[in-house]
Order: sequence, then structure tokens, then C-alpha cells
Amino acid sequence: MATINHHYGKLAAGYLFPEIARRTRAFQEANPGAEVMRLGIGNTTEPLTPTIVRGLQCGVEKLANAATYTGYGDEQGNQDLREALVARYSRYGVTLEADEFFVSDGAKPDSANIQSIFAIDNIVAVQDPAYPVYVDSNVIAGRTGEAKDGQYDGLVYMPCTEENGFIPAPPGEKVDLIYLCSPNNPTGAVATHEQLKAFVDYAIKHKAVIVFDAAYAAFISDPGLPRSIYEVEGAERCAIEINSFSKEAGFTGVRLGWTIVPKTTVCEGARPGDLNKLWFRRQTTMFNGASNIVQEGGLAVLSEAGQQECNGLIGYYMRNAQTIKVGLEKLGITTYGGTNAPYIWLKTPNGMSSWEFFDKLLNEAHVVGTPGSGFGPAGEGFFRLSAFGHAEDIERAVRSIQERLQL
Ligand code: MLT
Repeated sequence: MATINHHYGKLAAGYLFPEIARRTRAFQEANPGAEVMRLGIGNTTEPLTPTIVRGLQCGVEKLANAATYTGYGDEQGNQDLREALVARYSRYGVTLEADEFFVSDGAKPDSANIQSIFAIDNIVAVQDPAYPVYVDSNVIAGRTGEAKDGQYDGLVYMPCTEENGFIPAPPGEKVDLIYLCSPNNPTGAVATHEQLKAFVDYAIKHKAVIVFDAAYAAFISDPGLPRSIYEVEGAERCAIEINSFSKEAGFTGVRLGWTIVPKTTVCEGARPGDLNKLWFRRQTTMFNGASNIVQEGGLAVLSEAGQQECNGLIGYYMRNAQTIKVGLEKLGITTYGGTNAPYIWLKTPNGMSSWEFFDKLLNEAHVVGTPGSGFGPAGEGFFRLSAFGHAEDIERAVRSIQERLQL
């Protein structure tokens, strides 16, 4: 008798983005002439740059030739790509080894799967609001009870508020697994060295592990802010870092990311190297490696020319972020983020709930955004706009908000 994983039944009605898509479709059906402008999901829109296209083409050509054809590759990812990643981190002053990198098909699957190498009774702490994958993957695994008032029983929520600049302090109680995202999705806040150091000290003291999602690190322009948690002393003993080519290079559909499990990272019952071995076992059992064509593209991203072109892409999206931020502030709307991150986190005007503002923005300005409460209870009263989009579409959306939104 097969039975289902009943933990799925605990999940909130739907994953946030499908729910947004459902409401948007309903609006379009009711208003067939209206042009809907999408600033909701953080989905890249600009084409791949020339160096990266050549890298991908080179990957295809290698497969077309018997002398260079490859089938399954190195399980952790191509050695040259992992070495190029090692070189990237060395530019941040971080020393890592190639076998501490695991190349994958993106940060989302890695951030969902990483929990599987930890015991089911680990207490999990998340920033609130948070990228929903951290929470949902732990719910599905059975690490939580039911949800009440938007919070799952058994999860520890670290509220990110205006008062703490959307970067919380470590929990007051003992937890085992801590998810941190910086630059943050959804708030756009970036943790300083000191703020990360507090978490690292906490993790070392409690033998906890930090899962650090740095998928937006390339958007940091302030040289004083850390792009990797390993820039913080001690992090190599307690942190796993996840990152992605998606937003930096426009690989949202191409799919390529990496996870770093330093051999020095330990936790209760795990000696140096054990966590690295467990993730290796997990990946080689359940994943057959990232596409060899795509890994050639990744190598091109990390080349000098690739990096220069990606900086151009990032600059483009960050100019969009400024357009949104300045445009909203002109209306008297309070905004956060959007400076070292491609997300603008705005305070809903007139005390509206996040979903009320979603409906108002869609109905009046025909703009789709993401309700803050969809990321966790502390997101209530906030709203996220994404800077990923064609500049002319972003400008049109901001104009529409300025002209049509009745405040
Ligand atoms: C988002 O909009 O939060 C992101 O696109 C989600 C993701 O990268 O998976």
C-alpha cells in the first residue's frame, strides 16, 4: 500500500509564484485589452553576452567531434570550472579548494536539497521574510509541524524589520541549521561583516551550520560589503555557501550554480570532511552533473571578458532598480533595497496588507509585484518589485504607477 508524503499537505496553498500567476491570469481574462507589466518574479530578460554565447557554442562543438566528445563528466563539475571558481573566491581573499565546490543546475535545487544531509530533528531558523524554498523544503522533509498564522510550528523565525535594517541578530535560543540570504531576497538588504560575524560566532558556539545563499552577490557594488560568508573569519568552520550563475549571467533558463561545502565545516557528530562527503554522496546518488555544454558557458562567465560583460548586465538591472526606487519615492512610498541588490522592498502605503496592495497595483496600474507576506509573516505590509526587465518596460511600469495608482 503506497501512501503519500503527508508533509506536502502542510504547505501553504500554493508556491508563491504560481499564486501570483493565477491572479494575473484572472485579471487578464477579465481585462483582455490591458497590458500587464511584470515586476514580480526575479526573472532575467536580457540576452546572453557574446563571450558567454561563444562559450556555450564551444560546448556544443566539442560534443560534435569524436576527439572532444564527453559523456558524463566529473561528478562535482568540470575541474577547470571549479578551479575558475576557486580563483574567483581568491579575489575576495578567500582560500578554498576545488573539491569543496559542487557544480549544479542552480541555487534553488541546492538550497532545497542541502537539508537532506542533516538529521530530521535539527531545529531550523530562517529569516522572516525568506525565499520560500528554505522553509518549504524543510516542511516537506518533515522538520516542522502545521502552519498557524503563517508560521510553521517548530521553525524559528528571525524577523527582518525596518528597525533592524532587515538583517536580524542570531536567535536567542539554540538552533541547528540557519538559512541566511545576502544580498537578501526579498528585502534587498545586505549583511555587513559584523552582522555575519555574529552568526558565525553563534554557529561555532552552538555547533550549528549556516546555509548561506549568495545568489545575488554579484550585485554588490559597495566594496565594504562581503560577497561571500567565507570573508568572515571562522565561517569556513560552520558555513555552506550556495551561489548561482542565474542572475549574474542570465542563466535563469540555462541553469548552473554551485555549492561550497568546506572540508573544515563541521557540526555535532561530523568530523572535518564529513559534511563534504555527505553532500558528495547525495549529489552523486541523485544528480548526474550539470550539462557539459552549460559548464562551458559557466567557464566563459568567469573569464575576464565574461566578467566585464556580466558587469554590464548587472549595471543595466541596477539602473532599473534606481528607476523603480526613485519613481516610487517621488510618490512618497518608502523603499528599501535596490542599491546592492536587484529587489526593491517597499512599505505598502496607507497600512494596506501585502495582497491588498498586490490587487490594487494590478487593477489600477496593471503592474505585477510580489506580496511581502508571501515570503513570511514579517513580510506583511511590504511588497517586492524586481528590477529584472527591459529598461523600457520598467520605465513604462513606473510611469503607470505614478499616473494611475490612487494613493
Ligand atoms: C524570485 O523571484 O524570488 C526568484 O526568481 C526566485 C528564484 O530565483 O528561484
